[in-house]
Amino acid sequence: MVTRWIPDDAVKLLAEAGDVVVSPADRPLAPDELHEFVSGASAVVGMLHDRLDGALADAAGPGLKVVANVAVGYDNVDVPALAARGIVVTNTPGVLTDATADLAFGLLLAVTRRLGEGERLLRSRTPWSFHLGFLLGSGLQGKTLGIVGYGQIGRAVAKRAEAFGMEIVHSGRSGRGSVSFEELLARSDVVSLHCPLTPETRHLIDAAALRAMKPSAYLVNTTRGPVVDEAALADALEAGEIAGAALDVFEKEPEVEPRLLGRDDVVLSPHLGSATIETRTGMAVLAARNVVEVLGGRAPLTEVKP
Ligand code: GLV
Ligand code: GLV
Repeated sequence: MVTRWIPDDAVKLLAEAGDVVVSPADRPLAPDELHEFVSGASAVVGMLHDRLDGALADAAGPGLKVVANVAVGYDNVDVPALAARGIVVTNTPGVLTDATADLAFGLLLAVTRRLGEGERLLRSRTPWSFHLGFLLGSGLQGKTLGIVGYGQIGRAVAKRAEAFGMEIVHSGRSGRGSVSFEELLARSDVVSLHCPLTPETRHLIDAAALRAMKPSAYLVNTTRGPVVDEAALADALEAGEIAGAALDVFEKEPEVEPRLLGRDDVVLSPHLGSATIETRTGMAVLAARNVVEVLGGRAPLTEVKP
């Protein structure tokens, strides 16, 4: 049972393992609908907007062997509850690293060079002319990028930033460039978030963290919305505590804090981190291969262990 549209290549793979049912609804299923939909499933291929938990497993019934989340993040999955029922959980690491790092860097450029503002100015047909003081942004060369969460995506962002002449600090495991979270906030000209959403990282960027950033600094979030306290972010921007923010993910996704929608120093994109044809196909195919392996009695490729 596949909870929403996936690319054909992945459907074809799944069809090798059994009958494939894809939800025909062009929207996230409500919990009741989702539970009804998965009834009798041996495998559930789910999306990041689905709550994949013990109640879902119970609704599916005792035949459920594997839950494949088509995302690298798995904050939507209750891994211990599924593991307790003997169900294998998988995610899609690796295949979306570069796409997500590219989008993070695109947002970083968009917010520091005021591309959204410029676009809106032209589309509003406002008269303009080149002049030396027009829509000035902030250069990147010699500036410091603070990477929160130094996993595969964080490192891929660091590689891009190095090519742009930025200094890198990160708050991940020890090693070159590793600093405390407090030092990262105080030193960075751009803070980019790449940690998973866990109870420890929920509202990691709160009022105090925003106050600890430089007034000239920018925040980029391409991980999960709740890592940032969106109301506190709107407050900080209103108070001039930071210079701008670029967000691909939202605390109450798909809702966006209304005060952010009205601000020119905020760049917004609708959760597009992994949204390339190549990457989305790669993610769905990896999820499908995980299902095929588990249903075939073999080990999954990318298991999430409790
Ligand atoms: C997308 O947000 C993912 O976690 O893969
Ligand atoms: C800008 O367009 C320049 O030529 O310097």
